[in-house]
Amino acid sequence: MLKKANGQIVFPPDSSEQAPKVLIENGRVIDPVNGIDGIKRVALSGGKIHAISDEIPEGFVAERTIDASGKWVVPGLMDIHVHLREPGREDRETIQTGTNAACAGGFTSVACMPNTSPVLDEESKIRYVVQRGESCPCRIYPIGSITKGLLGEELSPFGEMVRAGARGFSDDGKSVYNSKLMRNALNYVKSFNVPIISHCEDADLVAGAHMNESAVSTRLGLRGMPSVSEEIIVARDTMLAEYTGARVHIAHVSTAGSVRIVRDAKKRGVKVTCETCPHYFIFTDEALGNYDTHKKMNPPLRSEADRQAIIEGLADGTIDVIATDHAPHVSEDKKDVEFEAAAFGVIGLETSIGCVLTHLVHKDILSPTDMVQKMAVAPNRILETSGGSLSKGADADVTIVDPKAEWTVDPDAFYSKAENTAFAGHRLQGFAACTILGGKIVFERK
Ligand code: DOR
Repeated sequence: MLKKANGQIVFPPDSSEQAPKVLIENGRVIDPVNGIDGIKRVALSGGKIHAISDEIPEGFVAERTIDASGKWVVPGLMDIHVHLREPGREDRETIQTGTNAACAGGFTSVACMPNTSPVLDEESKIRYVVQRGESCPCRIYPIGSITKGLLGEELSPFGEMVRAGARGFSDDGKSVYNSKLMRNALNYVKSFNVPIISHCEDADLVAGAHMNESAVSTRLGLRGMPSVSEEIIVARDTMLAEYTGARVHIAHVSTAGSVRIVRDAKKRGVKVTCETCPHYFIFTDEALGNYDTHKKMNPPLRSEADRQAIIEGLADGTIDVIATDHAPHVSEDKKDVEFEAAAFGVIGLETSIGCVLTHLVHKDILSPTDMVQKMAVAPNRILETSGGSLSKGADADVTIVDPKAEWTVDPDAFYSKAENTAFAGHRLQGFAACTILGGKIVFERK
């Protein structure tokens, strides 16, 4: 089915084509790395940031001028946690459709998880993703698996994968069950300046469960995952990070206890960072209503106390990053099945910025600078990638955000192949108006 598009992807990248000279005028430039927050001109040239100034730089003749009145001009956003499904499940998403969705959502880079088929557990597979990404409108940083085949038995060859372009390692979708193997992974990763990204869930405590363990799971008659199943592994992996001196990044934090463990570990100087996703600060398990499969994900939606703790963790800086865990599924696995048979996961690339603006920034929980910090600066720092600032000479990856535009989420209008959003029909305020990658305009909203 052909979807109606919200905007226009204007750039099937052609590396031979020169990036034009672009001048962005009248926008509020927010660049925390350089301490900038004010109305400025941004000049792009040769695919790089040429200048940020009050006046047009001397001798600069723009080939394209963008009027960003009423909008924010920020470093290109990065989503540190997405599933692009290629290789293997191209019926759910492809690298092309996933990165189209990313650039329509304002992202200029994404880190993609290795639970593909085959698993990204060796150099050739990382290389495949990197090469496929070269013709896409968004930078891709693959995450390699911690263990071969995600089987939790033998470490994958980290060195060759880092050389091929991997920027971190994760068995996302499950935890590494064996603590000795996790300790070895943390020791091993220290040589490569990339993090271990930990999906935290105790496999025995969640076996056969489909949602949060709570009064709601009792009412629905579904087996629940207790919050402690996440927290046990968050505690273990931050302790192992402390013990080994390695860096761990905790994926999709969903509980109050996880926030507390990370906060305490940070105070002790442990090299731990973490992320959450919009669904965890917007919904509770009550949103499952009458078995809504579009609210089924792993970790699951939790209680109101957990949701409040996530918001507090975002506000006080314990939670470093907002990611999406974009997890595309076909409708046979999601819409047309009963709850217990439905797959875990929701998509998020095209709704993330709207959710963050509507539910955090416009409610004064996060400032616009905090938002840029959590959606551009911190993800790049964690993966040690080069984006996240508008510094002179940096790659001209820029997102122009319209913070006020009101819109209704319509899955038919997504660039993603998938429609399994938790936000269908939601009214949101704010979206990406224009996305610029390496100085080339890749997306403009109609
Ligand atoms: O809900 C989820 N879906 N959580 C994960 O950790 C994996 C993801 C997927 O790959 O579908």
